[in-house]
Amino acid sequence: ARTVEEVSMDPAVQQLLTKARQEGVETAFDRADAHTACGFGATGVCCNHCLEGPCRIAPNGKGPQRGICGASLDTIVARNFLMKLTEGAAPHAEHGREVALALLEAAEGKAPYEIRDPQKLLRVADGLGIETHGREVNEIARAVALKALEDFQQQTGVLNWLRYRGQKKSVAKWEELGLLPVNAHLEIAQSVTRTAMGCDADPLNLLLGGLRMGLVDGYSGLHMSTDLQDILFGTPTAVKAEYNMGVLDAKKINIAVHGHLPLLSEKIVTWAKQLRHEALAAGSEGINLVGVCCTGNELLMRQGVPVATSFSSQELVIVSGVLEAMVVDVQCIMPGIQQVAECYHTEIITTLPYVKIPGANHVDFHPDNADEAAQAIVRRAIANYGKRNPDKVAIPTVKTEAYAGFSVEQIVGALSALNEQNPLAPLLDAIVSGQIRGVAAIVGCTNPREQQNVGNVAVARELLKHNVLVVATGCSAHSLAKHDLMNEKGLEYCGEGLRAVLKAVGNAVGMESLPPTLHMGSCVDNSRPADLLTTIADTLDVHIGQLPVVGTCPETHSPKALSIGTYFLAHGVDVHVGVSPQVKGSEWVTQTLTGDRTDEELNLDKLFGGKLIYETDPFLAAQKMLDRIDLKRRALGLSV
Ligand code: SF4
Ligand code: FE2
Repeated sequence: ARTVEEVSMDPAVQQLLTKARQEGVETAFDRADAHTACGFGATGVCCNHCLEGPCRIAPNGKGPQRGICGASLDTIVARNFLMKLTEGAAPHAEHGREVALALLEAAEGKAPYEIRDPQKLLRVADGLGIETHGREVNEIARAVALKALEDFQQQTGVLNWLRYRGQKKSVAKWEELGLLPVNAHLEIAQSVTRTAMGCDADPLNLLLGGLRMGLVDGYSGLHMSTDLQDILFGTPTAVKAEYNMGVLDAKKINIAVHGHLPLLSEKIVTWAKQLRHEALAAGSEGINLVGVCCTGNELLMRQGVPVATSFSSQELVIVSGVLEAMVVDVQCIMPGIQQVAECYHTEIITTLPYVKIPGANHVDFHPDNADEAAQAIVRRAIANYGKRNPDKVAIPTVKTEAYAGFSVEQIVGALSALNEQNPLAPLLDAIVSGQIRGVAAIVGCTNPREQQNVGNVAVARELLKHNVLVVATGCSAHSLAKHDLMNEKGLEYCGEGLRAVLKAVGNAVGMESLPPTLHMGSCVDNSRPADLLTTIADTLDVHIGQLPVVGTCPETHSPKALSIGTYFLAHGVDVHVGVSPQVKGSEWVTQTLTGDRTDEELNLDKLFGGKLIYETDPFLAAQKMLDRIDLKRRALGLSV
């Protein structure tokens, strides 16, 4: 087994993992040590799409080189990869649809939500071609929600959100290649059909199907979710908050919200305040809400709710012994939290009918009963307070301040303090002059198999040192925040040019400096960097793929990161992954994705001008990304 230091560079995680091991509590880190990787699965060469199989092809040429059905190695690897992308795109599309339904019910007065950002509603409605003049807010909201739901129903045409948010130059390219998705559910069903036994066997066609999944994820998932959540819950503005296990409070009733949807957790924020008197009556000093994963990011960005921890260490929040309830919605929820909770007094509460965990309690959530569900959950947590075992309480004192809330609106707002007429000008000037060498989005997760935060932090520090402006989302943002890359301390890692720009913009808005890396939100909020890139590319009248920008997920664990990455690849943005995308078994698939095919056949780089970079070493990864940034700078005639 790895030592706690080998598991994570976060001292709070190290302390709680030590406690877990002393108390005989097993976590994902221990299970990761116990599992030996399967060489076939890890390289994508194991097919179990039918009952003839599973068939495994040894990549060294030994043994049968085709499945029983005759599927080739390339077919099997490409098909498995497409399945991963579909598993990434589907939960994001469902996220978009859940929020669209909530908006519809809110607009029709059937669900207890209000429109907190009517200005954004108007902008989104405008972008979708919806008449806003002389119409009531709820009427417009209803029309926007129906437009969103069309993206799951229409049998012809193109996703409304793609037409709205897609950069025109990229959309033209996708159109030319016949990649434009019609509706998310249709595309996902077709993708499942494509990968089913006896259907698509053409590796190239399967990879093109993968690009469609990237677009489905990008528009029906990311963009739709962010736009509608901003309308319902407000567009984030800069906020200072706290990170890490030290945000737990032994004197209060602690509730962790975990998952991805803000629909329920926003209501829990409200009811935690309203039921404070009941918490006091139970002998506590109040209710303390903390976030985990992206539900945490959503509440952080809009409400300044502190974040306890990221994906790989989610079970350890419970090991603190002070958690009365962990409320989960969807995505990235380890079933293991229930086994850990059974060693303490923590109640795991699932909330969606399609996300249950054996042994956990379930409070069914629908937008129309949001208040009742949130109240019931907060009351259960209050009732659990008395069951806490003081002998098992140990909260690491580790916590860090961090800035978050950098929506595109907030970034442009800050820049407009420097140039009101043309807010993007200071940023573009800095990129052109080389003060800022390029822009990188660090996205994705933490992974129990990886040393937590090391990849995310090392990639960030290395890029900052070379004057790359870094934005971050998801659990990788947690890594950066916990290690002082979202407060003033981290400025020391920035190269001179970048630091000067961060200071200048910061000063203009009354701060000492902008933080070294900008927290743009949850995983679905990867729409925000995409929107920023669209605005920059349109201003320069170039294709997004021509910009000196990269995406990187050094520590991912989730197929969602692959489908988000594919969305950026379809724009011609280079995407780095630090964890194997499980395609190594096929040289053809690997080289098509990494742009290394030297023959005249298609590869991603030739097709879009961006490629997949798979590199486990964070320093080499940063170097490869810098090389690509420089390549694109040269092509634009910029200095390097
Ligand atoms: Fe084997 Fe073909 Fe069935 Fe896959 S689909 S398990 S390769 S027979
Ligand atoms: Fe996430």
